[in-house]
Amino acid sequence: MTDQHTPALQLSGIAKSFGSVRALEHVDFSAWPGEIHAIVGDNGAGKSTMLKIVTGIHDADAGEVRVNGSVESSHNAKTVQDLGVAVVYQDLALVECLDIAQNLSLGNLPRRWGIILDRQRMARDAAKVLSDLKVRVGDVHTPVGLLSGGQRQIIAIARAVRMDKPLILLDEPTAALGVQESARVGTIMRELRAAGKAVVCISHDLEFVFAHADRITVLRLGNSVGTRRTADTTRDEIVGLITGAFPADGRPARAQKEAP
Ligand SMILES: Nc1ncnc2c1ncn2[C@@H]1O[C@H](COP(=O)(O)OP(=O)(O)OP(=O)(O)O)[C@@H](O)[C@H]1O
Ligand SMILES: [Mg+2]
Repeated sequence: MTDQHTPALQLSGIAKSFGSVRALEHVDFSAWPGEIHAIVGDNGAGKSTMLKIVTGIHDADAGEVRVNGSVESSHNAKTVQDLGVAVVYQDLALVECLDIAQNLSLGNLPRRWGIILDRQRMARDAAKVLSDLKVRVGDVHTPVGLLSGGQRQIIAIARAVRMDKPLILLDEPTAALGVQESARVGTIMRELRAAGKAVVCISHDLEFVFAHADRITVLRLGNSVGTRRTADTTRDEIVGLITGAFPADGRPARAQKEAP
């Protein structure tokens, strides 16, 4: 159950090194139910690493991750789904040799009498998900390997939406998309927010971020250097935080727990 008084996601003092590369030094972050929270930062700032720590692909060296109030200890992709997290990775995790309908059903394959894969239902479900999202990709039996980068991105997003989890993590969801498709993703994010979900969206596209996010957290060189309400900040301030032209916010003694 989601609870409006508990962050959907809370990271406190997260650190992570890969050998001698210090990907994350100190990251504090919270996202609340019913908000779209953008994460921005230069290439290599640690955004994708942060997301992969939440989903259990990497273990943090230090710090704490809470999903809906519960501390995550050692976890993996399966348990993270059980915790209520849907994710679209930057390096999209679709299976090229499977068709659109099969990809949309991954992890949740419909079976008849518990054994036989129900292909008709899978195709029907996939067509419905895509039409609900107003996504046009033609035939749901098209192998994903034949789709364009943008079409794959939309399918990956549709798959995450279909999981219907309280926390949705998107890593560069619009990187391969045209203007109309990006706007469509923005609309999908707003619909998720309206349904009370927490949407965390990593993006380099500041125009997209300013158009859709409620709050913005900036990562610089593995540190969370500031969180701003979109309504109270400017592009200049965010760019200054990204580049270091503006100093990082002082670190609170404890991770911030205030509601947005
Ligand atoms: N599996 C890994 N092994 C070694 N180093 C890694 C690994 N994953 C990330 N890194 C390093 O950690 C740092 C942060 O990488 P990360 O992918 O989190 O950045 P990012 O903010 O997502 O960048 P981008 O905007 O380019 O996607 C980089 O220096 C990167 O080379
Ligand atoms: Mg990345």
